Amino acid sequence: MPTNRFARPAKPRDPVGMPPAWTPSSWRELIAGQQPDWPDANELEAVTKVLATYPPLVFAGEARSLRSALARVAKGEAFVLQAGDCAESFDAFSADAIRDKLKVILQMAVVLMYSSGVPVVKIGRIAGQYAKPRSAPTERIDGVELPSFRGHIVNDIAFNEAARHPDAQRLLTAYHQSSSTLNLLRAFAKGGFADLSRVHAWNQEFVNHSSEGRRYEQLADEIDRAMRFMKAAGVHTEDEPQLHEVDVFTSHEALILGYEEALTRQDSISGDWYDCSAHMLWIGDRTHQIDGAHVEFLSGVHNPIGCKLGPRVTPDEVVALCDKLDPDRDPGRLVLISRMGAENVTVMLPPLLEAVRDSGHPVVWECDPMHGNTFTAENGRKTRHFDHVLAEIAGFFLAHEAAGTWPGGVHVELTGDDVTECLGGAEEIVESQLDSRYETMCDPRLNARQSLDLAFRVAELLRR
Ligand code: PEP
Ligand code: CO
Repeated sequence: MPTNRFARPAKPRDPVGMPPAWTPSSWRELIAGQQPDWPDANELEAVTKVLATYPPLVFAGEARSLRSALARVAKGEAFVLQAGDCAESFDAFSADAIRDKLKVILQMAVVLMYSSGVPVVKIGRIAGQYAKPRSAPTERIDGVELPSFRGHIVNDIAFNEAARHPDAQRLLTAYHQSSSTLNLLRAFAKGGFADLSRVHAWNQEFVNHSSEGRRYEQLADEIDRAMRFMKAAGVHTEDEPQLHEVDVFTSHEALILGYEEALTRQDSISGDWYDCSAHMLWIGDRTHQIDGAHVEFLSGVHNPIGCKLGPRVTPDEVVALCDKLDPDRDPGRLVLISRMGAENVTVMLPPLLEAVRDSGHPVVWECDPMHGNTFTAENGRKTRHFDHVLAEIAGFFLAHEAAGTWPGGVHVELTGDDVTECLGGAEEIVESQLDSRYETMCDPRLNARQSLDLAFRVAELLRR
């Protein structure tokens, strides 16, 4: 029998005929899309070795709490709001910016919860959302070709050779910046800022006088009244932690696998592996190949995980992804995030919903109404229209109604700042205004007013 001198000897612990067992580094045997061309492999290895000695950013027990919360969503008893920047920046990193983003998320959650009566699981695209997949590895401007910007964990956005050079030291900066962002988030979430008695204080100055801001103020007045009523009726509201603090979980796209591997740790209680860089990790629409490195890596960690699904995916592929990522059919394990585009959603989503429903995987379905609705305005700015965002969410709800499945949540890109990146909304931002405050490093985000407006509209859909 001829021998293949290139074949690797089977690892001793793999039973004959079985695929190699999962380890935090088993992804290295497979093709990993969207990885930077790191110039110095030794430096990269040295950096990931340092990262592997650092403390975890989140704990396994917290990831398990999020799994339980998502299990309620999978059963149709709660709704998820996953929101934050497209790409967090190493430069725009102030306590105010973090606080303002949290304010919008808290406002949206309270609107959704109060108007629909459904509990809301809050997950930020925050404290680690630094890596971006790109449609082309290089970018050309005026005849000069440079590596594409891949997020601050890899390189810088300025268009010059030095800035675009992938720099492995940035992995360490990403860790430290995630750590301080998370520290502040935990303080805000548990230290009084998120107290329901402060519901008015989350409304920002520039939102206050808008129509959405006034609508929010009315709702906040009603919450105040409800709190006073509970007190008067003898409920010890001060002893109810749910009224004074919130759980805000963190998430990001698990794109740079060397970074994720270095932060993957074995839980001393369960013996299971967790990627301790965030509570939830997701696989992007460009990297969910069933035999690819990203799917392999996330199949073995026990965090709740997400997978983006764009218009090219087939029902068979989605069921295969469910089998690989959620073999135990565990509610709360897998979140499927559809991003079809407003025009496609009612045609393309139903066959996926039916296939997954019939396969028996108890997934959470989220709608990302942003990434399928991006276009370039005449002035060259990448943008999205608020009406298309709403239309995709409405189509998502319709498709779930027809399939008898639960529209589990929304996944949106937003900021607490007063930017002009997305068109439309109650303030009717038009193309000529895009330049005035266009600050995103990557995709256009809803501003605080548009986000609040969106929450009221989604609440109406949920109530129905
Ligand atoms: C993103 O969420 O920023 C993103 C790149 O999404 P997708 O993978 O769906 O294109
Ligand atoms: Co984006």
